[in-house]
Amino acid sequence: MDDTPRGLDLGRLIEQVEPGGDLHQVRQDFTRFMMRYRFGMDEVVTKLSILRDEYAHLHEENPIENISSRLKRPESIVEKMSRKGTEPSFDSIEKTITDIAGVRVTCSFVSDVRRVFDQLCSQADVTVVDVRDYIQTPKPNGYRSLHALLEVPVFLTDGPAPVVVEVQMRTIAMDFWASTEHKIFYKYRDDVPPSLLEGLKEAAESAAVLDTRMEQLHTQMRTVGQLPPEIEDELRHSEALVPDETFLRRLHQMGEV
Ligand code: GTP
Ligand code: MG
Repeated sequence: MDDTPRGLDLGRLIEQVEPGGDLHQVRQDFTRFMMRYRFGMDEVVTKLSILRDEYAHLHEENPIENISSRLKRPESIVEKMSRKGTEPSFDSIEKTITDIAGVRVTCSFVSDVRRVFDQLCSQADVTVVDVRDYIQTPKPNGYRSLHALLEVPVFLTDGPAPVVVEVQMRTIAMDFWASTEHKIFYKYRDDVPPSLLEGLKEAAESAAVLDTRMEQLHTQMRTVGQLPPEIEDELRHSEALVPDETFLRRLHQMGEV
């Protein structure tokens, strides 16, 4: 999901951001503004990738299935500004449009969503600005996901700057549902037939039942014992870090000298 700002509609942006403003200046300011969000987003992605890789390496399971990120397109920022009545200033955009930088994480199990979420949020340089737990309390349409606005510092040439990143965490089943629902709304342009809405609601309930069942199976499986070594190896994807036999023998010999 690479949505770096391209094809800026500067004419419209100037109207929105700085009526009568200087084109060159607006372009520079806007690029700087967007860059900070990209850095913040990359920061959060790195934090999550570290958690994922460490898990894959140290444990015989991987709680994170996928991490993706996207920057909101300038056109969507302008569209949301007019929808929300945002004042044309960077300060107001920052305050009212909190999903300029977005990171989405999918996990197999709800317990993994919660575990990774807690680990991310408890990091020293992460400030939790807001949490919306749509897993605990699903939206009326059936949407489930754990949303958080996290503030992270990015270190720029003139010092640190706080950046807010929207993180959405969900299971594979929730993600499947959300992307299907999104496509349906896109196709019908918000005029979705009631039968489809009903079907979506039912599908959301089935997804929740599936999540619960999978979690039970997973817990049951964990009590059985170790996985065979070849499967454990498959789960570890940072193989370059795993010392081979020759290395270990040499290390041992060095100890004997
Ligand atoms: P915006 O809708 O973006 O203005 O934010 P909000 O203040 O309503 O926050 P909320 O947490 O409700 O939603 C933020 C984001 O979550 C959305 O932009 C979507 O990516 C996702 N989301 C929320 N509700 C739904 C839903 O019903 N279906 C799908 N597919 N995605 C949703
Ligand atoms: Mg919304």
